[in-house]
Amino acid sequence: MLFKRGAEAEIHLTEFLGRKAIAKWRVPKTYRNREIDDILRKSRTKSEARLISEVKKCGVSTPVIYDVNVDECMIIMQYINGKRIKDILNNVSENERKKICHKIGESVGKMHADSIIHGDLTTSNMILLNDKIFFIDFGLGEKNSEVEVKGVDLHVMMEGFEGAHSEVDAFGYVLDSYKPYDKKGMAVKRMHEISERGRYA
Ligand SMILES: Nc1ncnc2c1ncn2[C@@H]1O[C@H](COP(=O)(O)OP(=O)(O)O)[C@@H](O)[C@H]1O
Ligand SMILES: [Mg+2]
Repeated sequence: MLFKRGAEAEIHLTEFLGRKAIAKWRVPKTYRNREIDDILRKSRTKSEARLISEVKKCGVSTPVIYDVNVDECMIIMQYINGKRIKDILNNVSENERKKICHKIGESVGKMHADSIIHGDLTTSNMILLNDKIFFIDFGLGEKNSEVEVKGVDLHVMMEGFEGAHSEVDAFGYVLDSYKPYDKKGMAVKRMHEISERGRYA
């Protein structure tokens, strides 16, 4: 059953050994050269599955990967039956929002401390379930320890918050709990520099 159609994938609701599961299928893009498209979809499928598993080691919650079919560009994973942060963050109490944002900042801090870059840190890619934030959609992620890529990751997140959650205090809380993981505050500093670059470009 088609559940969602994302920017680069179709999300189907399915079952895996009797459990509710999500099938993320990267559909061919006909506007791209066929061979290049195949290589791109396969490599993103592989790297997404790898990162979703690997990031658990630093204490960040992600869906369990049930199966990966690289040739089909398909990942079968745990269905996180929670609420998308994007849909709830503006409507919860100030106290609850603070708690959620602190968890987001802490998780991103742990990822970055372990050189895992998410690549698309919008609140559509975060799901709240049982008081935990689950991160999904690592298709644009990578292993990288450079300050610049961490800064870009944070900057993408900041722009997402400015777009979707500008009416409430939120991103400041995210940064508060990110900072203890940020050596010498370098990634946050770089994030601000990247915004400045954008402003004067
Ligand atoms: N494991 C999952 N559990 C619950 N919902 C999911 C899961 N994976 C994806 N979704 C839903 O599908 C949407 C699109 O999936 P995503 O992986 O972000 O694809 P895209 O790369 O196209 O953005 C998400 O915003 C979320 O609502
Ligand atoms: Mg997404």
